[in-house]
Amino acid sequence: MSARKIIIDTDPGQDDAVAILLALASPELEVLGVTAVAGNVPLPLTERNARIVCELAGRPDVPVFAGCDAPMRRKLVTAEHVHGKTGLDGPQLPDPSMPLQEQHGVEFIIETLRDAPSGAVTLCPLGPLTNIATAFMRAPDIIEKVAEIVLMGGAYFEVGNITPSAEFNIYVDPEAAEIVFKSGVPLTVMPLDVTHKALTTRPRVEAFRDLGTEPGRMVAEWTDFFERFDKEKYGSEGAPLHDPCVIAYLLNPGLFSGRKVNVEIETGSNLTLGMSVADWWHVTDRPANAMFMGDLDAEGFFALLTERIARL
Ligand code: RIB
Ligand code: CA
Repeated sequence: MSARKIIIDTDPGQDDAVAILLALASPELEVLGVTAVAGNVPLPLTERNARIVCELAGRPDVPVFAGCDAPMRRKLVTAEHVHGKTGLDGPQLPDPSMPLQEQHGVEFIIETLRDAPSGAVTLCPLGPLTNIATAFMRAPDIIEKVAEIVLMGGAYFEVGNITPSAEFNIYVDPEAAEIVFKSGVPLTVMPLDVTHKALTTRPRVEAFRDLGTEPGRMVAEWTDFFERFDKEKYGSEGAPLHDPCVIAYLLNPGLFSGRKVNVEIETGSNLTLGMSVADWWHVTDRPANAMFMGDLDAEGFFALLTERIARL
C-alpha cells in the first residue's frame, strides 16, 4: 500500500515538533512539505523551528516553506508564555543548515493540490488556519481536491486555553477557522477535549529519554519545558501533547473516539471570539461537518509515539 501523502501546516511549538518527528518516523506517511505559519511564535521562528526539526529527524530533504506571517484580519497573538521565546525552548538547538524554500507556503499548498489527483493529499494543520484558509480563498478550485483535513484545534467540554471559551489555534485566526470549517472538506478535529488526555506523565517522558537517542532526548527536554505551563494552570500530571494526536490518528485512528457533529466558529462576539461551538446533542439542523474527537487510548498513543521516535 503506498504511503499517504500529507502536508503539515505548523507553528512549532514543542508539541508541533513532536508531531513532525512522528510523521517523519512513519513510513505509512509521505510528508510532501511542511508549511510554517505564525502562531505560537512569529513566522521567522516557526519556519526556522520547522527546519531544525526536519534536520533532527535526519530529513533535510523535506521542503519547508514560510506561509502567512499574520492572521487574515487580526493582529497576531503568540504563546511565548507556553513555548518560550524561541518556540522550542528546553534543549539547546543547533541553527538549521537546510534552506527555506523560496516559494510561499500558500502557493505550495495550492500548487501541490492542483497537481495531485483529487483525494490524494491530506492537510494536517497544527496551528492557526491562516495558510489553509488563504489557499482556499485564493484558489477555490483546490477545495474539492483535498482528501481530508485532520487538524488540532478547538475545544468544547474542555473549554478554552487562551480565553475562557477559545482554544489557541482557532482564537488566533477565527476567520480562517470559519472558512475551513465551512469549506465542506471532510474534517477530523482534535480539540482540547481529547488532547488534554494525552498527558506526558513522568514515566512517559522518561521512556523518551531512555531511548538514548538525540530525538528521544529532545522530546524529553521539550516536554520538561512545555509541561510547566499546564501543570501550573490545570494541576495536571504533565503536558498535553496536542499536535501529535493529528499524526497518531493518521497512523492508528482506532486510538481515538468522537462524534460527527456540526461545529461552527464564533467570529463576532468579543466575549467568545474563536469558540468552537459543537452541536454535540444535535439540537439544531445544522449539518454535521466534523468528526470531533473526545477520547483516546493514552497508553496506546504513547506506545506508538515512543516506538516511532525510537526509529529516528
Ligand atoms: O492550543 C494548543 C495548540 O496551540 C497547539 O497546536 C499548540 O502548538 C499551539 O499551537
Ligand atoms: Ca501547534
